[in-house]
Amino acid sequence: MKINVLTLFPDMFTPLTTSMLGRGLEDGKWELNLVNFRDFTTDFHHHVDDTPYGGGAGMVLQIMPIKKALDSLEDQGKVIITAPQGRTFNQERAQSWSQEENLTFICGHYEGFDQRIYDLADEVVSIGDYVLTGGELPTMSMVDATVRLVPGILGNAASPVDESFARGLLEYPQYTRPEDFAGMKVPQVLLSGNHQKIAQWRHKEALRVTYLQRPDLLASYELTKEEELMLAE
Ligand code: ADE
Repeated sequence: MKINVLTLFPDMFTPLTTSMLGRGLEDGKWELNLVNFRDFTTDFHHHVDDTPYGGGAGMVLQIMPIKKALDSLEDQGKVIITAPQGRTFNQERAQSWSQEENLTFICGHYEGFDQRIYDLADEVVSIGDYVLTGGELPTMSMVDATVRLVPGILGNAASPVDESFARGLLEYPQYTRPEDFAGMKVPQVLLSGNHQKIAQWRHKEALRVTYLQRPDLLASYELTKEEELMLAE
C-alpha cells in the first residue's frame, strides 16, 4: 500500500516512521510519500492561502497548489480530505481503506479549504467532534489505524481479530504476571486452563464493558438470547 500525504508540514509525520509502522516502512510493507503543496505555488512568496471572499476572519487555502500537487501524483487512489465537517472515521473505514492499493490525504490548515477543493476528494473524514489546528494529527491517526491492518504489519504475535470494534464490541480485559499484585488478583477463570470457559468469560466481559462504557455500540449489535442472559446476570 502506498499513502500520499499533501501537507504544509511534512516534518510532523516522523511518528509514522517509528515502532511497528516504521518497521513496516523499512520492510517495504507500505510506503509513505509526503508532498509539500507549497512547492506547487508559482508566486514569489509561495502563498498557499488568501483572505475569504465576502470577508471574515482567517485565511482560506487556495485550490491551485493543491490541485497541482494532486496532479503530480501517478497513483492517487482514493483522495481523502480531513476536516471536522466530514463523516466520523471508525474501525470499519480503517478496514476498508486497508484493502486499497493507494490513498491520498489532503491536510488542511488555517481557517479551512476553498469549497472547490472538496470537489477534488472522494471522501471528507473527521476524527471527532472537536477542531484541531490542522489535518496532520487526524491524518496520522487514520493512517496508523489503517496501516496496522495491512497484513504483515503487526507481526504474528498481535492480532486485530479480538480487539475493540473488530466485532462491534469493546475488547475484554487482559491480565499478565503477577497473579496477585498487592491484593489485586487476576480472575480465577483465566488461570483455569479451561479454554471454553475462558472464551465465555471474555465474551461476557466484552459485552459488559461495552454496555457500561459505550452502550451506543450495542444499538447496532444483534444480541443473541444467550448474550441477553449473560448481560442480565
Ligand atoms: N482538522 C481539524 N479538525 C479536524 C478533525 N476533528 N478531524 C479531521 N480533520 C480536522
